[in-house]
Amino acid sequence: MAQSDVSNWTEVAEDWIAWVRAEGHDAFWAYRDAFEQFVGQGVGAGLEIGAGEGRICRVLQGLGYNMTALEPVAALLEAARAANSATTYIDASATDLPLASESFDLVVLYNVLMDVDDLDASAKEAARVLTLEGRIIVGIVHPIFDVHMAWKSGETPPPYFEPQVLDTEVAANGLQMRFRGWTRPLSAYVNGLANAGLFVSRMEEPRPDPDHPATLRLTERNSVPTFLWLELRRFSHSNET
Ligand SMILES: C[S@@+](CC[C@H](N)C(=O)[O-])C[C@H]1O[C@@H](n2cnc3c(N)ncnc32)[C@H](O)[C@@H]1O
Repeated sequence: MAQSDVSNWTEVAEDWIAWVRAEGHDAFWAYRDAFEQFVGQGVGAGLEIGAGEGRICRVLQGLGYNMTALEPVAALLEAARAANSATTYIDASATDLPLASESFDLVVLYNVLMDVDDLDASAKEAARVLTLEGRIIVGIVHPIFDVHMAWKSGETPPPYFEPQVLDTEVAANGLQMRFRGWTRPLSAYVNGLANAGLFVSRMEEPRPDPDHPATLRLTERNSVPTFLWLELRRFSHSNET
């Protein structure tokens, strides 16, 4: 099945804005404090690739970074701008960044790499714009969570090893969202990033705030990891042959 990451997200832009901005609804808010600790306070130029309506940029600005929000869906980029999420806004795809090499101290891809059609090109572009001493923060839906969800709703064990198209509709709290993207094995992420010249310097399988409404609603989040966070740095030379 042909995928088009940007057109998929263009179709659901308004649903996504409502989904992430509803008080206590989206799971991220139960992980926000842990995410802030994972990234830590800092200074310098930050870039979020696939910034959506800007919530992660707003968190990163709060940590001290001077953020650029990059997002290919016009309605989302405008929502990010209207919420004063960053200092600079760029309409572009992860696969072709209109940015100078080695120009950002922090590059963040939060819940984006499982949505892009071309993981390897996105990883290479993110690595290219990172300073030599910089860090990349990647958040993905944990591949084990994809397996868990598919197994829960299916009759046969879901395939893990090959990338699969993900297309699922979720409704809760009077909100709806269609999530389309990919389930990929963990090795696809780590090796895609390694081929871009990056190594994992830290990894977190975060636990949600136990008292948050999203945690209480989705009880499996207490026992199965929902997200996986990676901190990556540049090899002094490319790992690619
Ligand atoms: C799950 S949302 C995450 C948004 C934001 N990072 C957040 O956590 O709120 C996925 C985002 O990836 C963006 N996206 C999809 N394809 C993309 C591409 N090729 N390049 C950059 N961003 C892309 C979508 O438009 C959407 O904003």
